[in-house]
Amino acid sequence: MTSILVVYSSLNGENSKSTELADYYLQSLEGKGVSITKVDVAELALPHLTGEEMQAWMTPASERSSAQQALAEISDNLVAQVQAADEIVFAVPMYNFGIPSSLKAYFDRIARAGITFKYTETGPVGLLVGKQAKVFASRGGIYEGGDYDTQTPYLTHFLNFVGITDVNFVYAEGLSLGDEPANVSIINAKNKIIELTPLNAD
Ligand SMILES: Cc1cc2nc3c(=O)[nH]c(=O)nc-3n(C[C@H](O)[C@H](O)[C@H](O)COP(=O)(O)O)c2cc1C
Repeated sequence: MTSILVVYSSLNGENSKSTELADYYLQSLEGKGVSITKVDVAELALPHLTGEEMQAWMTPASERSSAQQALAEISDNLVAQVQAADEIVFAVPMYNFGIPSSLKAYFDRIARAGITFKYTETGPVGLLVGKQAKVFASRGGIYEGGDYDTQTPYLTHFLNFVGITDVNFVYAEGLSLGDEPANVSIINAKNKIIELTPLNAD
């Protein structure tokens, strides 16, 4: 059975277009033998990464104080979810020309030296190998392929860095440009999602 982890990051609750796209993908997988785990990083509201939290990671588990243990578990649990997944779906709004800060705080817990990547003499090596990722990106304006689409190179690089090199993007853009273009954009994105849906996920 294929395990899918879905990471939502919109502040818009049930009105979110990135969530709509991710859920459309999940519906297209119904009956195809997938198990689904969901995490909403907007609800999770992780704080900024602190020195204390990083110190907890670097302290051997047997030597951690109970406070350090609690801090380390935040990242440990999120990393375990990613490690268990065959595929990770990211529903990503554009906020102020980047990814939501909640998603950045999540990535700060996923990038763990010695666990999800390691440094070698020839450079960093990602350890989350054999996984796919899909990114469903929603934007008010139109950026795909342009200089101001900072999300695509950043997400590609981050995922590659931790070993996830099979990454596909689907964009719903122009969502603030009126109902008509927004509706067309969502329909086009959903058609692309169907093209990406495996015939059999078993
Ligand atoms: C705080 C905030 C910042 C935004 N910044 C941008 C932006 O920089 N560029 C853009 O095209 N749209 C921007 N938007 C519009 C959202 O990207 C758009 O509404 C998108 O549909 C949000 O995704 P969601 O529907 O999944 O919440 C912003 C929206 C909010 C709430």
